[in-house]
Amino acid sequence: MAADQGDISAFEELESNVRYYCRRWPTVFASAAGSRLVSEDGTRYLDFFSGAGALSYGHNAPFLVEAAVDHLRSGRLIHSLDTHTPEKAALLRTLQRCVLSPRGMDMVVQFVGPTGATAVEAALQLAERITGRRGVVAFEGGFHGMTARAASVSHSLGDRDHSGARFLPYRSQPDERDLQLLKSALERPIGDERPGALIIEPVQAEGGARPFTAAYLAEVRRLCTDHEVVLIADEIQAGVGRTGPFFSSEGSGLDPDIICVSKSLSGLGLPLAVNLIRRDLDRWAPGEFTGTFRGNNLAFVTATALLERYWGNGELESSTGRRGQHVGALLGHLAAEDDVLPFSVSGRGFLWGLTFEDGRAATAVVVAAFRSGLIVEACGAGDRTVKLLPSLLIDDEDLELGLDLLATAVRGLSEGY
Ligand SMILES: Cc1ncc(COP(=O)(O)O)c(C=O)c1O
Repeated sequence: MAADQGDISAFEELESNVRYYCRRWPTVFASAAGSRLVSEDGTRYLDFFSGAGALSYGHNAPFLVEAAVDHLRSGRLIHSLDTHTPEKAALLRTLQRCVLSPRGMDMVVQFVGPTGATAVEAALQLAERITGRRGVVAFEGGFHGMTARAASVSHSLGDRDHSGARFLPYRSQPDERDLQLLKSALERPIGDERPGALIIEPVQAEGGARPFTAAYLAEVRRLCTDHEVVLIADEIQAGVGRTGPFFSSEGSGLDPDIICVSKSLSGLGLPLAVNLIRRDLDRWAPGEFTGTFRGNNLAFVTATALLERYWGNGELESSTGRRGQHVGALLGHLAAEDDVLPFSVSGRGFLWGLTFEDGRAATAVVVAAFRSGLIVEACGAGDRTVKLLPSLLIDDEDLELGLDLLATAVRGLSEGY
């Protein structure tokens, strides 16, 4: 495998300057299967970025493609606003059976529209409706989307209007002082009134693959209850099995009031976003939050197939847990090598980060990895973290190959970047 350029003139001439990932990987991708991407000139790449977490089940999983093609050919609805369709009923029932019931979660589903940011927007609006208070407590390193309100609670977007938000520091091992900070953040007014919501990624993704401790998340729950603050978990990137369990907060006692889920929910990379809302907090009036693309039946079909195949039993969860520990151990060994530039390792399941002291080092790894045929991206404060998001279904051989290519890129750094 080797990096190529391809004809990128159409994009350079005709597309907005806002384009980003294509600058990291300046090629033209032509086909994809599982963890493999192939560019127009036949160059092969191993994908450890998985569509920023939207392709946790790889590219074009055959059983999902088949479900989608069957649906497309069936004459059934593709677009349905929020009218009733058998496909939506099937997804609701399957989500209930495979995800909510086994976890004892009494939640209703709001279909919000195509993107994660829409889910966050809806969650913040609902929280405000419940409490009558607009201010939001969020976390340093958090990322929740690009719409104005989602960006306002996204600390990682440094240049946005954050006036309605208060940010707490992320700490891998929070102590008594952090709990005091949390308590006081929930008590002190933002503007004229106490905050109405707290939003948290239980495992921060863009923030650098950083899990909060279970004990801290349990305290978040307790203090939000004490202060009547709506607790929103953003599981958009770390959910749907990325860290092992379906929800990255499972087992922590976070017990969110609203959970935002999107990205990998459709399995195939089709746009789909939902909010899971505690039944007694479903205070929406009919039509109070709408969106033209809430009824993506193609995505309903593939999401249902995904849940049926992988979430009716615990096999994928335990395999991601086991294989994720192996990845973490290998990264730990790499970090301990004498000659590599210092970096720390964080993460869980199949979401890992290598955080360097300097963003230039992480960028150099991303660039070197791409040259050798591995797709990874930098994130976190100052882009200091190389983030790994392999497909949960990647075979062992490709997983090892990707980790080898990554290790080579990291070792290459010590010779100067
Ligand atoms: C945790 C989290 N929340 C929200 C979003 C926004 O999702 P979208 O890009 O679909 O609007 C993202 C996207 O990366 C995310 O990682």
